[in-house]
Amino acid sequence: MPTVGILGVGLIGRAWANVFARADWDVVLWDANEEALARAPQLIADSLEDLARHGLVDDAPGKASNIRTASSLAAMTDGASLIQESGPERVEVKLDLFAQLDAAAAPDTILASSSSAIVASRFTEELAGRGRCLIAHPVNPPHVVPIVELCGAPWTDAAAVARAREIYDSVGQTTIEVKKEVDGFILNRMQAVLLAEAFRLVGQGYVTAEDLDKTIKDGLGRRWSFMGPVETIELNAPGGIMDYCERYGETLLGLSREPVTEEIWDRANCQRVADSWGAAPTADQVAEKTVWRDSRLAGLAAHLRDAPRYDKD
Ligand SMILES: NC(=O)c1ccc[n+]([C@@H]2O[C@H](COP(=O)([O-])OP(=O)(O)OC[C@H]3O[C@@H](n4cnc5c(N)ncnc54)[C@H](O)[C@@H]3O)[C@@H](O)[C@H]2O)c1
Repeated sequence: MPTVGILGVGLIGRAWANVFARADWDVVLWDANEEALARAPQLIADSLEDLARHGLVDDAPGKASNIRTASSLAAMTDGASLIQESGPERVEVKLDLFAQLDAAAAPDTILASSSSAIVASRFTEELAGRGRCLIAHPVNPPHVVPIVELCGAPWTDAAAVARAREIYDSVGQTTIEVKKEVDGFILNRMQAVLLAEAFRLVGQGYVTAEDLDKTIKDGLGRRWSFMGPVETIELNAPGGIMDYCERYGETLLGLSREPVTEEIWDRANCQRVADSWGAAPTADQVAEKTVWRDSRLAGLAAHLRDAPRYDKD
């Protein structure tokens, strides 16, 4: 059984633990918060049970028994092929954690960060083992949403990226490689553009927040759950992508010309969007709805696993 060290047992760290435990890796958890660390194995076992209800895991208690906790950061690195850092999204914390990881882990251990938007060169430059450091950015929660964006710093060894890709693919994730560093990587840059336009349209009174959401969940998002935007437009003109661009390119240029200004993200506009959506949920409602969301995502993952694929070759 290969070993993975999970540093940080918040939302993302626990979901990563689920991914590796169900693939029968030996999973070692560590977190600076002792209470959070003590609670984590049961929470991960519960999430494995939920996957079992959707037929995505065979033996949830058996998979949960792959998980243990470590008494220190250094102990967590012992024998690990991969460390998945999922601590706070602050560059000074990542600098400190990666310095400790680089000092403690064996030279062939890959050190990956879940960072959502901080590129690896901002916290690995001074490390002796900087060639084995990279970003492996998941989407919340990675045990039911498979994408992992791999992005090395300029000094990351190509072999480390290739090995990381092999590992994440082998535990059932879908990897992409971001070929050069860019803040926010690919997914969050795409999300940023979509959200800016959504906030513009709702904030300027063109549509309610609820109706805008329907255009994605009952419109664009239906196709996007199994095809990307490029694959989508290929089918929207008989001659494929170039035909689509000739037919609609000029119109789309006109629609996307307006720049994203600071007003879109200022407090007043954010408040207009929040007011359009309605009363803010309580912490209990957020927790309850998160369970509902993860369960629906597990159902969708089960459906997509069994759905026929179109092989273009
Ligand atoms: N939440 C998301 O939607 C999402 C999605 C993709 C990636 N990420 C990234 O994953 C990482 C973790 O995010 P999260 O949402 O799980 O955060 P979180 O706040 O839920 O969890 C962070 C964990 O780190 C622990 N921690 C804090 N300081 C520490 C330290 N010095 N050493 C060890 N552990 C420490 C905390 O106790 C906590 O358990 C961040 O880099 C974030 O950007 C988050």
